[in-house]
Amino acid sequence: MRVITFGTFDVFHVGHLRILERARELGDCLSVGVSTDTMNFAKKNRYPVYDQQERVQIIRALRCVDEVFLEESMELKRHYIEIHQADILVMGDDWAGKFDEFSDICRVVYLPRTPSVSTTAIIEKIRIPKS
Ligand code: CTP
Repeated sequence: MRVITFGTFDVFHVGHLRILERARELGDCLSVGVSTDTMNFAKKNRYPVYDQQERVQIIRALRCVDEVFLEESMELKRHYIEIHQADILVMGDDWAGKFDEFSDICRVVYLPRTPSVSTTAIIEKIRIPKS
């Protein structure tokens, strides 16, 4: 079974690790689409702290990850699922219901997010207040 998932994975944290480990356990090959800096800017109006090559390097180094590619656009999800021949699409449950349209080509699974951790919360916590 081939599994695929997508995300920004900026300022890598344990919530990211846990979803990737759980995704990998659903099959025997995990492909991860890491969203590009441009795509993030378009979505959140800010660039990630770590650039796309750094984020790809980190994800690629994980034992639970088999393949990494750059996700250039949200609109290409179907294409990525097809070219990676994924049987299962995994997303965190913050996306619950949002990718059901792909259930014609793969199983769509939403896993519970790890509580109390997010990139946004980490950035807020370490931000030095401007005087
Ligand atoms: N994720 C998770 N548990 C968390 C945080 C993220 O399972 N506590 C999952 C998301 O559901 C997603 C993947 O990790 O499937 C990548 O999430 P991403 O948006 O890159 O991370 P966040 O920490 O949610 O980033 P942000 O705060 O910028 O939204």
